[in-house]
Amino acid sequence: MTRQRLVAGNWKMHKTPEEAASFIRGLAPAVAGAEAEVLCLVPAVDLVPALAAAEGTPVQVGAQNMHDAEAGAFTGEISPGMLTSLGVRYVVIGHSERRGLFGEDDAFVNRKVLSALAHGLRPILCCGETLALREAGGTLPFLRQQVELALEGVPAEAAKDLVIAYEPIWAIGTGHVARTDQAQDACSAIRAVLREKYGKAFAETVRILYGGSVNAENAAQLFAQADIDGGLVGGASLTMDFAKIVFA
Ligand code: PGA
Repeated sequence: MTRQRLVAGNWKMHKTPEEAASFIRGLAPAVAGAEAEVLCLVPAVDLVPALAAAEGTPVQVGAQNMHDAEAGAFTGEISPGMLTSLGVRYVVIGHSERRGLFGEDDAFVNRKVLSALAHGLRPILCCGETLALREAGGTLPFLRQQVELALEGVPAEAAKDLVIAYEPIWAIGTGHVARTDQAQDACSAIRAVLREKYGKAFAETVRILYGGSVNAENAAQLFAQADIDGGLVGGASLTMDFAKIVFA
């Protein structure tokens, strides 16, 4: 089973609308002809200009977060329908910064995954352990639990649009990338959860990304692993290094 590689840049809270459009106009020719799917996950206010700049290019634009509800008294939030009305297809769900800094728990992440899929969005579901958990040998059971809780009630036909990103928290923004064998073992364990839940054929179709200090130097080795189908790239997605990662 060959899965198309996905290289997604998570801009986090960086770039104004103008900077977003100008970056994408520069990125588009630099990634022309890439075999990988190229995606920029931009701040909400950048979505409209970024989508306009990306139109007709190989660059896709997605969102970093959404609420699960259709509408309502949720000050500061964005609904799935608002994203689809712009033509957005991908949305990050359950990034460790959302979980850790903004108190999103597994139940909320699960509701968001269900809602994203119901709206035809492709969730990039994030999971990953702390350093303390890894050192205590608890990584794989923890990942299993996080993925199972996030996918509760998700049927295989809906889950075909799913992407999972394994992002060890200790590797995010630290420059301390996971060893390739650590990243591969974790992604393979995540695929095993999918196999148990949805069967082998389905599990083989789901793209599993690695994230956490990916850069132009280490990307190729990570992406060459059997169960790693691309990357979720933070810091290195803000510069033209991102194009090198796309071709890694
Ligand atoms: P990083 O961030 O590449 O800057 O470590 C990755 C992420 O949080 O998605």
